[in-house]
Amino acid sequence: MKSTVITTNGLRKVYRGRAAVEQLDLNIGQGEIYGFLGPNGAGKTTTIRMLLGLIQPTSGDIQIFGKELRKHKLQILRRVGSLVESPSYYGHLSAADNLEAIRRILDVPKARIAEVLDIVSLTGEEKRPVKGFSLGMKQRLGIAAALLGSPELLILDEPTNGLDPSGIQEIRSLIKRLPAEYGITVLVSSHLLSEIEQMADTVGIIRQGTMIYQDTIAHLQEQAAGELRLTVSEPEAALKLSSLSGCGGSLQESRIVLPRMSDARVALLVRELVENGHAVYRVEEHRQSLEQFFLQVIEGGIS
Ligand SMILES: Nc1ncnc2c1ncn2[C@@H]1O[C@H](COP(=O)(O)OP(=O)(O)OP(=O)(O)O)[C@@H](O)[C@H]1O
Ligand SMILES: [Mg+2]
Repeated sequence: MKSTVITTNGLRKVYRGRAAVEQLDLNIGQGEIYGFLGPNGAGKTTTIRMLLGLIQPTSGDIQIFGKELRKHKLQILRRVGSLVESPSYYGHLSAADNLEAIRRILDVPKARIAEVLDIVSLTGEEKRPVKGFSLGMKQRLGIAAALLGSPELLILDEPTNGLDPSGIQEIRSLIKRLPAEYGITVLVSSHLLSEIEQMADTVGIIRQGTMIYQDTIAHLQEQAAGELRLTVSEPEAALKLSSLSGCGGSLQESRIVLPRMSDARVALLVRELVENGHAVYRVEEHRQSLEQFFLQVIEGGIS
């Protein structure tokens, strides 16, 4: 089993009597890209600030690399890189000089600057003043800075916010390379499911401070997978057939609606219908888009 990088138990943060984060149990495995998803104000940044030791939880525990954050803060944070909100930099200085300032604080070898510039594809742009950079380049520079200390865990709070589609694509492909090529575990937040779906292995959905869904993207896709619709000559009579009623079929607009099932099962059903004298006009699979499913989850339809 792969080891766990971040675990939280009952993590909670209260601001002026109001819980911004409530009973949060995060579980992030080694080498995973974990998408932390939620609408505005859901508690993503508050959670991330607690994980980075920037604010104190009201209650609950945080374990990173198997150690209690409260007790081993410096030791843990030395192995973590982060980008929370927009990166800060000196606009009149070049990308390389900005990274040099951070390199000195971290006390890592000078050669690391060229390495991180290469990882974020800024090689060749390092001598230009950062104030002339596009938003996407600034964001990549922020990720380069987060990578300077060769972290094992990278925490990125909405790194694609405000970027155009090509900027988003660049950040996404950069993030996707990190676990495989550098063994880095990534926690990335977003309010867009489509974005998380394209890069994460696991998703945690937070709403009003509470985790309402935490599972693999593959499982999320399975759950969102739709239903089977049968159009037959005599739907009411057909639904009385034991196998159809037995698998939770119902009648909607004179069609039979069934939960999704295997091809073999569908073939059996159709055969039974035909053998019982029904004409089967259509067998359709209706898929809900993941976005629709996400909205349903966010609105409290599924828990
Ligand atoms: N310093 C603070 N003082 C008081 N309330 C706060 C503070 N920081 C956050 N909150 C509240 O906590 C809740 C969660 O905020 P948070 O910034 O964590 O959400 P978020 O998921 O990051 O949202 P966004 O997508 O807009 O960045 C919000 O209701 C917010 O108003
Ligand atoms: Mg936020």
